[in-house]
Amino acid sequence: MLDVLPHKIHDESRQGEAYAPFVNDPSVYRKKFYIESYGCQMNFSDSEIVASILNGAGFGATRNVEEADLLLLNTCSIREKAEQTVRNRLTAFRKAKESRPGLLVGMLGCMAERLKSKLLEEEKLVDMVVGPDAYRSLPALIEEAEGGQKAVNVLLSREETYADISPVRLDSNGITAFVSIMRGCNNMCTFCVVPFTRGRERSRDADSIIAECTDLFNRGYKEVTLLGQNVDSYFFATGNAGEQAVTFAMLLEKVADISPLLRVRFSTSHPKDITDDVLHVMVRYDNICKYIHLPVQSGSTRILQLMNRTYTREWYMAKIDRIREIIPGCGISSDIIAGFCTETEEDHKDTLSLMEYSGYDMSYMFFYSERPGTLAQRRYTDDIPEEVKKRRLQEIVSLQNELSRQSNEKDTGRTFEVLIEGDSKKSTEDWMGRTSQNKVIVFSKKDHPFSKGDYVHVRVTDCTKATLLGEVVMNG
Ligand code: SAH
Ligand code: SF4
Ligand code: F3S
Repeated sequence: MLDVLPHKIHDESRQGEAYAPFVNDPSVYRKKFYIESYGCQMNFSDSEIVASILNGAGFGATRNVEEADLLLLNTCSIREKAEQTVRNRLTAFRKAKESRPGLLVGMLGCMAERLKSKLLEEEKLVDMVVGPDAYRSLPALIEEAEGGQKAVNVLLSREETYADISPVRLDSNGITAFVSIMRGCNNMCTFCVVPFTRGRERSRDADSIIAECTDLFNRGYKEVTLLGQNVDSYFFATGNAGEQAVTFAMLLEKVADISPLLRVRFSTSHPKDITDDVLHVMVRYDNICKYIHLPVQSGSTRILQLMNRTYTREWYMAKIDRIREIIPGCGISSDIIAGFCTETEEDHKDTLSLMEYSGYDMSYMFFYSERPGTLAQRRYTDDIPEEVKKRRLQEIVSLQNELSRQSNEKDTGRTFEVLIEGDSKKSTEDWMGRTSQNKVIVFSKKDHPFSKGDYVHVRVTDCTKATLLGEVVMNG
């Protein structure tokens, strides 16, 4: 695990983070809400939309459960463990609710969508259940709940993108921000609950994305990460005669054109959809970070077919070759699932060898967790014993540690342009920043008049498993 927040759509290190915006004038807001988020970066991004909607309804954010009138959990269903964590949190809220009868508790996000009103039966504490496409109705639902009724809205939409809502940046470092460019997913990977909890894929109006990124840059932000479950299938057409549709490659170019001082990242890329066009745009713009999160899931063609990933092992390898050919030095990371239905030792070895072939700088690694309602749950048997899943996962993790170490050692002695994001986690004497390849680098502040948000050249002098250590090079 990196020692600071990785810029990933699936960011395990932030699970359950509670947050509030920096400015929170109590004279403006009659009531207070507390929100905790779980799951992927899109869920964290949604919490910023929820905060904006709630501000409009007179609720200000607080970090303190004790002073809140409304407790919200923005939940994740991706693995069983994610749901269990949320249930445990809910139990912890029971005490607060018992001592303050008027306090409302709401479940938002993917678990709300998956369980719908069943949640109200299972968890008597919950007053509101609100799915990811229903956040505009929050003020009305709160009113209903205040009137003593249980309030539910889990309607999924084919159009909702919250394009016009200006997210309230929660707990932001003021330098890096996430911008949602699409919602939902049409891919139907057989293990995955997301298409059921987030609905059909839809792309957000390109102009509203550019406007949001421009506004962020004007307010001092230096990096935006464009978010979607499958960003490469972004496609926006106004339908107006004569207006050209916008593809992901075109969108990337438009965002990169805002300013050479605004870094652009994106996540997640599906191997089947990332195009040469995207790779070429990445090369053309220095400010588009040379980093691709390209989840493979498995290295076995047979398992990939059962997963409905629609590519083979060889096809994925060719994609890696293409990236390395067009963008030399590009950082590449992955998501990997150990122990999917029917996985043999041979299949598992294929995963290990594909990891080596790809030379991932970093990976998110999981063992398979069967999710109710998914194709895999309906069609296949979850037949790999837990201890086998865990052993295979451990082998995957060990190999990734070794690959990450090798990748960091290769960087030692080299100089990178780094965007300073703030103090290092361990010491206010050190800065922490990221290279274009998304590696965290820590270096001393001493003798240098830099600030957060500056670009500096840093030479790597040493590394730990997860972090580069370096020193500033003045004429880099
Ligand atoms: N849209 C992204 C990933 C979203 S979910 C993509 O397609 O790559 C993040 C990761 O969680 C997935 O890439 C997968 O590795 C993991 N995951 C999803 N469902 C899972 C399950 N049922 N069990 C274990 N891991 C799962
Ligand atoms: Fe899930 Fe597959 Fe969609 Fe990713 S692409 S969200 S893994 S269905
Ligand atoms: Fe994200 Fe979890 Fe939902 S990974 S899309 S919050 S199921």
